Amino acid sequence: MTIGIDKIGFATSQYVLKMKDLAAARGEDPEKFSKGLMLDALSIAPITDDIITLAASAAEEILTDEDKELIDMVIVATESSVDQSKAAAVYIHQLLGIQPFARSIEMKEACYSATAALNYAKLHVEKHPQSRVLVLASDIAKYGINTPGESTQGAGSVAMLIKKDPNILILHDETLAQTRDIMDFWRPNYSTTPYVNGIYSTKQYLDLLKTTWTEYQKRFETSLADFAAFCFHLPFPKLALKGFNKIMDKTLSSPVQEKLRANFEASILYSQQIGNIYTGSLFLGLLSLLENSRHLSAGDNIALFSYGSGAVAEIFTGTLAEGFKEQLLSNRLESLAQRSPLSVAEYEKMFFEEAALDESGSASFDHYKTGPFALKKITEHQRIYGEAND
Ligand code: HMG
Repeated sequence: MTIGIDKIGFATSQYVLKMKDLAAARGEDPEKFSKGLMLDALSIAPITDDIITLAASAAEEILTDEDKELIDMVIVATESSVDQSKAAAVYIHQLLGIQPFARSIEMKEACYSATAALNYAKLHVEKHPQSRVLVLASDIAKYGINTPGESTQGAGSVAMLIKKDPNILILHDETLAQTRDIMDFWRPNYSTTPYVNGIYSTKQYLDLLKTTWTEYQKRFETSLADFAAFCFHLPFPKLALKGFNKIMDKTLSSPVQEKLRANFEASILYSQQIGNIYTGSLFLGLLSLLENSRHLSAGDNIALFSYGSGAVAEIFTGTLAEGFKEQLLSNRLESLAQRSPLSVAEYEKMFFEEAALDESGSASFDHYKTGPFALKKITEHQRIYGEAND
């Protein structure tokens, strides 16, 4: 039995901040962002669009009524949770109308946890072959105004349906994780933005990539020659490019190296327009690769490098299924171009708006554009979600 990703959906916010505008406002050379980080724009979410609305929107893009009857587990991977107790997956389960006899949970380890969620989903389907599991990687990456991380913010969710006989990517059993207790990026409960040792975090990312990939090749007797593409966690595309250059095997023939490079370039296109979406970044890279590459065929193997600060990294792999292209969109870049551009002043107001709770713990919000779902209000500390057009 093969198990893996049957469908992938994606949602981001309806507002965008152009890097050239941010550069002008912060007195930076625009090339620092366009070439130094390889970013063009960041998705900016209003207060009515959070990890729950974005994840539900991403799932709504792909799920049929049949899926909703057969899903028996919903896992949300996030590090921008809206509640310390109630799992975001419970709200999403209700918003999507998934049948009641399902398990709904949230998982955390910085940007890594969606990889653990995939693994759990795969093990679940191995035991229960009729099951479908919905894995949602959903985050809003917020570092703060005028901080070094400000240029690497973003918002978005990737939804993946995991089942047997998948139509997109058959996941392999060979995976290798590495844990290293470091303080490169963390967010204590009392802080709305993370603490970051930026340069140190980039060095750790690259070192965990190198050491995990070396051990992976040794343990599973494989090498880059066995793969058509290598996807990376994408905090910003330039770091992934450094990672790509690090793992590149110069003994491979020029056409093979060129194909890997062309596929790498396809994998960063969405991230360049969206920024960091933490748990979803790696999978946004996979989606970008699948929807934009002209150098992939069924049967090709893909390697994926997952990295979450703190830190846990994992390399896992899969094989493209027959007909994978039929599951994908071809116009996603055009829809991203439809987002409403914000001035820097508008972005500062919108992205950092906090709910103004009254004495009963209730708040209402101005109207903002969202996808199909929105946070409508807060009533006595309860978040009330619904369809955006209600
Ligand atoms: P910074 O201070 O904005 O930038 O910090 P910099 O001075 O290091 O410059 C960035 C690049 O731009 C450099 O390129 C410069 O040379 C270049 P490099 O030398 O590295 O190749 N540059 C220029 N290029 C062209 N024209 C110019 C120009 N000026 C400079 N005029 C930093 C960058 C990443 C540290 C910052 O944005 C940050 O702290 N970001 C947040 C942390 C982060 O993203 N870390 C990545 C690894 S950790 C991770 O991936 C996990 C994470 O996703 C969270 C999680 O797991 O939950 C973050």
